[in-house]
Amino acid sequence: MVSPSQNQTSYSPPDPSLEELIDEVKSMVVLTGAGVSAESGVPTFRGKDGLWNNFRPEELATPEAFLRDPELVWKWYDWRRGIIGACHPNPAHTGIAELETMIDDFLLVTQNVDGLHKRAGSRNMVEIHGNIWGIRCVRCGGVGEEETTVPMRTIPPICGVCGSLLRPDVVWFGESLDSKDLERAWVGAGNCDLMIVVGTSALVYPAAGLPQHASDCGAKIIEINIEPTPVTRIATKSLFGPASTGVTTVVGAFRSLFL
Ligand code: OAD
Ligand code: ZN
Repeated sequence: MVSPSQNQTSYSPPDPSLEELIDEVKSMVVLTGAGVSAESGVPTFRGKDGLWNNFRPEELATPEAFLRDPELVWKWYDWRRGIIGACHPNPAHTGIAELETMIDDFLLVTQNVDGLHKRAGSRNMVEIHGNIWGIRCVRCGGVGEEETTVPMRTIPPICGVCGSLLRPDVVWFGESLDSKDLERAWVGAGNCDLMIVVGTSALVYPAAGLPQHASDCGAKIIEINIEPTPVTRIATKSLFGPASTGVTTVVGAFRSLFL
C-alpha cells in the first residue's frame, strides 16, 4: 500500500490566510503596474492586447526616437492622453487609496503614467516612470505649462523660455529614473513589513527588483495579478484575479482588523 503522502510529487507551500498576513503590519508598500488600470480601460503594455504588440518601443519610447521624429512621438502620446483622459479610477485605485488611510507608514510606488492613483486620492506616492500629463523642456529643463488639452494645440510643443522642444515628462527606455524617486521606492521596500504587488509583469527593472529587495529584507509579499509572474515565486500569498477584486479583498481584511 502506498500512502497518499508518499505519492505526492510536488510540494505546495502553506497558504497563509490574509488575516494572518496583515495582522500587525506597521509599514506597507504597494507596487503597481499597468494591470491596475486595465479595468479602467487603459491598455497594458504586454499580453494579448498590450501596446507593445502593435507599437515598437524603440520608435516611440526612447530619447533617440524623440530626437529623430518628435512629431510622431508626440502624436502617440497625444493618442494615449486621449484614452487616459476618458478613463476613471476603478475600485483597485480607490482601494489602494483607502489602504493609505489605514496604515501610518504607507508608500505607493507606481510604474503607471496615467495619474489615476492621484485621481483616486492616493497622496504618499512615487510615480517612478513619470506622468503622461507632465511636460518638460529637453534643453533648459523648464517645466512647460500643464497642457491637458487633447488633442494638443501644437505638436510638437515648444518651450516658451528657450525655444527648444518640450517632451513628455516620462521615463523612456534607456533613461535613468529620477534618483530621489528611486531611492524613496528602494528605502520604502527595504523597510516595509508587507508589500502588495498589483498588476505588473515585473519585467522592467529597476522597478521589477523592488519585490525581491523587500522580500530579502524580511517583508511578506502579496501579489495580485490575473496570471503568474516572476514575483509569484517569492510571494507569500498570490491572489489570482482582476486587480479590483484582489484589492477589495485585501481592503476588506484590513477593515475587519479595525472592527
Ligand atoms: P505590463 O503590460 O508589462 O504588465 C501588466 C500586468 O498586469 C501583467 O502581469 C498582466 O497579467 C496584469 N494584468 C492585466 N490585466 C489585469 C487585471 N485586470 N488585474 C490584474 N492584473 C492584470 O505592464 P507593467 O508591468 O506596468 O515602462 O510594465 C512595466 C513597464 O513597462 C511600464 O511602466 C512601461 C512598460 O514598457 C516604460 O514605458 C518605461
Ligand atoms: Zn526650454
